Amino acid sequence: MGRCCKRNGRLLCMCLLPCMMTSHLLIYVMVSIFVTMSYTPPPKIIIHYIAPGISVNTSTLASHPLEPFWNLRLEDGALWNQLQHALDRLHNPILRRNTTGDESPTDCLSCKCSVPQIDDLNSMPEQIKAFVWSMHCREYPLLINQPDMCGRNNRDSPMLIMAIKSQVGNFENRQAIRETWGRSGLVRGEDGKKSRLVRTIFLLGRQDSSTGPHPDLKNLLDLENQKYRDILQWDFRDAFFNLTLKDLLFWHWLQQHCPNAIFVFKGDDDVFVRTGALLDYLHKQWDEHNLLRVSTNDTERTLDLFVGDVINNAMPNREPSTKYYIPERFYKGVYPPYAGGGGVVYSVSLAMRLKEVSERVHLFPIDDVYLGMCLHRLGFSPGRHPGFLTFDLPEMDRANPCAYKSVLLVHRRDPKEMLTLWKQLQSLPRQC
Ligand SMILES: *[C@@H]1O[C@H](CO)[C@@H](O)[C@H](O)[C@H]1NC(C)=O
Ligand SMILES: *[C@@H]1O[C@H](CO)[C@@H](O)[C@H](O)[C@H]1NC(C)=O
Ligand SMILES: *[C@@H]1O[C@H](CO)[C@@H](O)[C@H](O)[C@H]1NC(C)=O
Ligand SMILES: *[C@@H]1O[C@H](CO)[C@@H](O)[C@H](O)[C@H]1NC(C)=O
Repeated sequence: MGRCCKRNGRLLCMCLLPCMMTSHLLIYVMVSIFVTMSYTPPPKIIIHYIAPGISVNTSTLASHPLEPFWNLRLEDGALWNQLQHALDRLHNPILRRNTTGDESPTDCLSCKCSVPQIDDLNSMPEQIKAFVWSMHCREYPLLINQPDMCGRNNRDSPMLIMAIKSQVGNFENRQAIRETWGRSGLVRGEDGKKSRLVRTIFLLGRQDSSTGPHPDLKNLLDLENQKYRDILQWDFRDAFFNLTLKDLLFWHWLQQHCPNAIFVFKGDDDVFVRTGALLDYLHKQWDEHNLLRVSTNDTERTLDLFVGDVINNAMPNREPSTKYYIPERFYKGVYPPYAGGGGVVYSVSLAMRLKEVSERVHLFPIDDVYLGMCLHRLGFSPGRHPGFLTFDLPEMDRANPCAYKSVLLVHRRDPKEMLTLWKQLQSLPRQC
């Protein structure tokens, strides 16, 4: 070949050409690999975190996860698992030592406890650090209370109490909820039959100054509370990783001030609920429960209900750039089945059991997952109701009132959209 090239210039060209083409191709491939590697898509801003998993839509009850979501074995290097492991041993009736005052600090659940020892805590994201520093603390005083919401001596206990997680600055959301789906008082179901008593209450922490300075809205909040008397505020920083505290502290409040209510709706202040339809559903559950209680002559039987949009086998978010990042050094394993996405409904009797079992589960930064963990501890599977739409209706259906006919909850709607939708749904056309 070489000899032939020397002989003729044209032949030389023909011989070099494939070589040049190959090298160009090589350069092209290398450049495109380099570009792909160095390109990072702009970070997505997720307002509400929903850990991805399998949405359950085959049966009403979520199946248990494929693997145990927390191991009985000790997971090396995962802080939460280690703490929970110690707590589990402490409450294990077979292993339990019959000693008092001999608890290691990791078994301690109070503000007085020391911060758990972890070597590389400083390399963790700020949010996780803040969480770890206060994760033993679950008692915070009430700044604003509503001791009489359910009447003196609980004589006016509502059928449904709507506990909405809100923040000091979200006045507009609260007002829209008060004017629409969260009206307190007697509310008629969609079936037009009996009215039932509903009470709405907003769960707030202290304004979060970690994200920068903010105007002081304290006086405004006091005025709002004087007018509506529907605000509970606790003295902790209202950060995303502190939302679990609202569930715990609300259960505590419920037990003290409204134990005779029957159902709780717990949701965010940016969802839309068809309260009438929800009441119909709950009333049906209550009737069935009472029927069963009579037919089995079991007066002690309690109603255990927990429904929402259930997500199975979800994995923690391992993307360090996101706000909801859970490092592997903090938690290992899959999440238990949990109901995510803006709202769930459960019975007060189950809430009391959740409150009890929560004393044996370490706080977890993501509130929905924490509820799943507590349910799992009770051996209870959250139920799925197809009316809870975490991911909203298809885009083209959102403006069509008829599309909401079987919906109980949609996520997410801003205050103006709530008012518009509420008005539209008041006169749902007959042909729907
Ligand atoms: C669940 O529903 C989605 C759409 O809503 C569907 O794509 C998926 O196949 C369903 N899954 C099962 C297991 O039926
Ligand atoms: C544990 O100790 C207390 C007194 O210290 C005793 O009364 C109780 O019976 C013990 N329980 C068991 C299970 O040994
Ligand atoms: C939760 O609130 C407590 C008390 O205000 C605070 O010390 C802690 O930093 C907060 N946690 C987060 C993750 O911000
Ligand atoms: C139901 O139970 C009570 C005691 O728990 C008993 O006195 C009563 O006879 C029972 N009624 C029926 C219909 O079995």
